[in-house]
Amino acid sequence: MGSLRFLTAGESHGPALTAIIEGVPAGLTLLAEDINHDLVRRQGGHGRGGRMKIEKDRATILSGVRGGQTLGSPISLLIQNQDWDNWSGVMGAEPETRTDERRLTRPRPGHADLSGSLKYHHQDLRNVLERASARETATRVAVGSVARSLLAVLGVEVTGWVESIGTVRTDSLGYDVEQIGEIGLEKWRHRIESSPVYCPDEKASTEMVETIDAARKDGDTLGGVIVVNAWGLPPGLGSYVHWDRRLDGRLAAAVMSIPAIKGVEIGLGFASASEKGSSAHDEIFYSSSVGIYRQTNRAGGLEGGMTNGQPLVVRVAMKPIPTLMSPLRSVDLETGEEVKAGVERSDVCAVPAASVIAEAAVAFVLAQAVLEKFSGDNLNELMRGWREHWEYVEKKRGL
Ligand SMILES: Cc1cc2nc3c(=O)[nH]c(=O)nc-3n(C[C@H](O)[C@H](O)[C@H](O)COP(=O)(O)O)c2cc1C
Repeated sequence: MGSLRFLTAGESHGPALTAIIEGVPAGLTLLAEDINHDLVRRQGGHGRGGRMKIEKDRATILSGVRGGQTLGSPISLLIQNQDWDNWSGVMGAEPETRTDERRLTRPRPGHADLSGSLKYHHQDLRNVLERASARETATRVAVGSVARSLLAVLGVEVTGWVESIGTVRTDSLGYDVEQIGEIGLEKWRHRIESSPVYCPDEKASTEMVETIDAARKDGDTLGGVIVVNAWGLPPGLGSYVHWDRRLDGRLAAAVMSIPAIKGVEIGLGFASASEKGSSAHDEIFYSSSVGIYRQTNRAGGLEGGMTNGQPLVVRVAMKPIPTLMSPLRSVDLETGEEVKAGVERSDVCAVPAASVIAEAAVAFVLAQAVLEKFSGDNLNELMRGWREHWEYVEKKRGL
């Protein structure tokens, strides 16, 4: 869907990860350092395993950008795996590298291992997990960063943050996006980035760190809930005219496709199912000073598969990491023996990192929807269409 699209490639312990993005208008300022800032955020967060200490993710822009500006041609990005030096003898493409070293035959419950091996007829589970691994999400973050650069020019901001880890929740913030508006976006971002778990609530952050440490001690893992917000969106991105144009569905698909994400809500989400109609919707008001306005944002910024001009609120549930240091029961696929599942170097909790990935996924879908509505081979055309639409909306809302 849409003219903006991307593909990624790369194995977790291969030489590198790559992405190709097509459809970014010409004339956008794009700097590797902005992408790198997001890559560093993805690597962080309390609860990560040893791998993230090895990797120092940096993106190299291989094409589509000249002198810091996009050309309108495909943008290709390269993120090298530092760990490749330790794996070239196992993961190389040449036939001589075929080896049973680091072979895995004990599938981890909750991971892609078992179904992937049955689907692709792999005898070594490594052939599955190398691509199923969330290492791939580094490229999604890099792509999302390009989308964010485009959105930023239009005044659209996207942020992801951690609402809960295990049973520890922020008590006051919830998804009250108005409150964030009052705090101010810059201060809000600073709060998120200065928390070891990307949670803007200091007290909850401390408890989240403690609960992660306790899980690590027990050889266990944790999941949590992430919120992604976006501001500055005009009404009318996405559409009601066909199922695959609805922005709610497209956002849900993009976020749900992140490994370990098991639930996505827009606005009130599941809670709306137990509300009455009179307390589930956002009534429409008019005043001569502001025109048409809402007092609530229970819809989370989407009605009829389109943005409605309110801030976007997407809530995301992440399950606990499937690789446990105290492994779950499994079966050895070679011997049929009941065994403990395989153990790979692994995170205890990656909810903070997933908040950066979810932010990237939302940013990409929003940028795609923007380009669908306004098209534009170059940024000037896009900005013109964007401004005209806002002028129309403002005029109509003021009646
Ligand atoms: C940022 C991030 C880091 C992850 N790190 C690990 C990890 O270290 N070990 C692990 O077993 N799973 C990890 N996962 C989760 C698995 O990739 C995921 O559960 C697996 O691919 C199966 O997909 P599914 O959970 O969506 O069914 C991570 C996920 C994310 C988003």
